[in-house]
Amino acid sequence: MVSRVIPTDPFDLVIFGGTGDLSRRKILPGLYRRFWDGQMPKEARVIGAARSDMDDAEYRDFVRQSVTEFVPKRKCDDDLLDAFLSRVSYVTIDAKGSGGWEALATLMRPDVVKAFYFSVAPGLFGDLAERLHRFKIADDDARIVVEKPFGHDLVSARALNATLAEHFDETQIYRIDHYLGKETVQNLMAVRFGNMLFEPLWNAQYVDHIQITVAETVGVGGRGEYYDRSGAMRDMVQNHLMQLLCLTAMEPPSKFDPDAVRDEKLKVIRALQPLKVGNLVRGQYRSRDESYVTDVANPDSRTESYIAMKVEIANWRWNGTPFYLRTGKRMKERVSEIVVRFKEPPHSIFEDDTGQTANELTIRLQPNEGMDLTVTIKEPGPGGMRLIDVPLDMTFAEALGEEAADVPDAYERLIMDVIRGNQTLFMRGDEVEAAWAWTDPIIEGWETREDRPKSYEPGSTGPEEALMLLHKDHRRWRELRT
Ligand code: BG6
Repeated sequence: MVSRVIPTDPFDLVIFGGTGDLSRRKILPGLYRRFWDGQMPKEARVIGAARSDMDDAEYRDFVRQSVTEFVPKRKCDDDLLDAFLSRVSYVTIDAKGSGGWEALATLMRPDVVKAFYFSVAPGLFGDLAERLHRFKIADDDARIVVEKPFGHDLVSARALNATLAEHFDETQIYRIDHYLGKETVQNLMAVRFGNMLFEPLWNAQYVDHIQITVAETVGVGGRGEYYDRSGAMRDMVQNHLMQLLCLTAMEPPSKFDPDAVRDEKLKVIRALQPLKVGNLVRGQYRSRDESYVTDVANPDSRTESYIAMKVEIANWRWNGTPFYLRTGKRMKERVSEIVVRFKEPPHSIFEDDTGQTANELTIRLQPNEGMDLTVTIKEPGPGGMRLIDVPLDMTFAEALGEEAADVPDAYERLIMDVIRGNQTLFMRGDEVEAAWAWTDPIIEGWETREDRPKSYEPGSTGPEEALMLLHKDHRRWRELRT
């Protein structure tokens, strides 16, 4: 079941921040993998650009190391890696000055797709965009790729959008949310709109509630400084969870095309009710041996490493069906999933009915991508008509064979979409602004109240209060496992 790979048009991809962590871990290994399976054509080129003084040979060494470290051995063919490296070069660039820009201009070829990956601090976006024009490096068809964080709030996101718009048209700007590049996130759309089975039931009449969980076992790692300024709300909810919510809740777009999909997502964000204070729980991991405040070296930090909330969408489809969102660091299990809990049948004809008969559809984004649907059946045996819920489990790797597990990583898929000029899986400027417009008042609220996050044990399911958020509605979170 290997999918057919169609090579893209030849391209010159410049990675600003080409020696950074994202380049090393994701972008460069991803490009190599696309080269390995033939999607990146032999004529394509990758140009690293950064402050460090390096020549091509030194940069190729850097790329070789990153590929060797982050690509599985069976794909690290020496000859192929050499062929890939022969397509790689490097320019030392001064983002705020003029050093290196003429050299970059000379390197670029006229008749190929040009893409510029801004893997740098957002404070440099404007400088890079302006120079790409001043030195006539970017043409009208050039694409720029920008990473999150896209702003810190609505005001800064608007300013960033305005800066980019001075030099590039919206159709040239690719705002990455890597969750949109994940295989199962796209599958969510296939499941919803490629089947007759689910969509007729996908509304408040039949769905009791929806849970979206993105739990991580890791802490804040070496990113303490950034994270402490962001917290779970800015780092995860404003972007990744919001996107998952939109894809789950949106109306069917008329076609799978960038603006049709993004228009529908935007409508969902705009229909979100302002969050009530009682529908929010923020947490911080803390135990005797390990604590968030130590990890970020800020003993007085009020930043949340966990957040849970009950979100309501004010439209015909979802009125009365809450969406419960939670995400956190240092939790019990690494899992990202969407659980759609259907309502119970309106009347039971079975005397022994235990009442446990609601169907549940779980879409697992990671790990073990797949779907799981609980169905109510009769308990086997002579004991009368007793009902039990059993799972119809479908792990994609099992159902589709080995290759299904070998899907492209989110970044490599998204980079190839940039080259193909397909913006469907990228956030549009108005979407990002609408998401900030919803999260800003929530953040301002807790800042004004000077709320402190609740404590939770590292390796747990989060603070007690988050359990209560559902208990008071007579519901329960899907249990996290170790
Ligand atoms: C990033 C966040 O966007 O997503 C990180 O900044 C988080 O804090 C990461 O760990 C999670 O991504 P994934 O793909 O590992 O679920």
